[in-house]
Amino acid sequence: MPKLALIGFGGVGQAFAEIVGERQEEIARRFGLDLTIVAVADPVKGSLFRDEGLEPAVLVAAAQGAALLAGYPEQPGLVRGLDSLTTIRESSADVILELSPTLADGQPAIEHCEAAFAHGLHVITSNKGPVVLRYRELFAKAQEAGVEFGIEGTVMSGTPSLDLGRAALAGNRILAVRGILNGTTNYILTRMEEGLEYEDALREAQGLGYAEADPAGDVEGFDALYKVVILAAHVLGEQVAPQDVAREGISQLTRAEVAAAAREGRHWKLIAQLERTEAGLRASVGPVLLPADDPLGSVRGATNAITYTCDLLGPVTLIGAGAGRRETAFALLHDLIRIGRSTTSVGRRPA
Ligand code: HSE
Repeated sequence: MPKLALIGFGGVGQAFAEIVGERQEEIARRFGLDLTIVAVADPVKGSLFRDEGLEPAVLVAAAQGAALLAGYPEQPGLVRGLDSLTTIRESSADVILELSPTLADGQPAIEHCEAAFAHGLHVITSNKGPVVLRYRELFAKAQEAGVEFGIEGTVMSGTPSLDLGRAALAGNRILAVRGILNGTTNYILTRMEEGLEYEDALREAQGLGYAEADPAGDVEGFDALYKVVILAAHVLGEQVAPQDVAREGISQLTRAEVAAAAREGRHWKLIAQLERTEAGLRASVGPVLLPADDPLGSVRGATNAITYTCDLLGPVTLIGAGAGRRETAFALLHDLIRIGRSTTSVGRRPA
């Protein structure tokens, strides 16, 4: 085991199930983790629970496009129709993958995480809402329950930006963080440099699955702002309120302006920053014109990048995928493997 319940079965959940189907055997062999999806609950697609496990490839095929999980074939022990909270409370899963569509108030994801912790279950999520709005409380509840809360997928999809800052660089003092943290805007800016109109570039980014359900969250800088808040809390140990982050999006930039800068070897980027100052931590998100020889200046498309300025090591830059269904699904797998290595409780649901 572990036994997994996917709460929300949209693009990321389906990509995760696909990866489990492809890698189940390899992950069992290499990491000793027998990944079994026992439940899926989605407010639109419906829900399934089977203690012996659901067949990942069949699940994905059943949920493709507008199809509903009602199309999943009958099997002995299959239970249909449990809602998300009942799935969390009563299925046999010991790890909850919280991937539900989440509103601005962070619900229903916050409620799902709390219910999981109350039942002694690990939670892994790529949902920024609950992490931004309830970081301290949710980690406290996880700790109290002796379980893990995996959030790698909330920043830079599967590129391990949080793990780098929190684990690999531990022992340094991180003086500043600077990054391209939104895939959609970087994709749009890159395509505008290539001559596309803003609206067409945005449509492409939506088609590729990078943009948020409401793309204003991307282009007005809110998505990058939320990631800055998560980085501040998780890597720097500092609570920053979203309203205290200076924010500007990219919608004021014209195609002509972006293309002219590129011809001169400079690139507009939506830069998110955290900087330790005498007055405390300063956080901002806004468009910055960078030369091509800046490590972030040449980052193109939906690729993201982050530079940690460390006191012992100097600047360390990580460049990788910033968005995408499979890329984000990988973050869930990363957290599962990390949790599997750090705990013996995965696979043993408390009585
Ligand atoms: N809409 C986000 C982006 C998805 O474009 O970066 C990943 O958080």
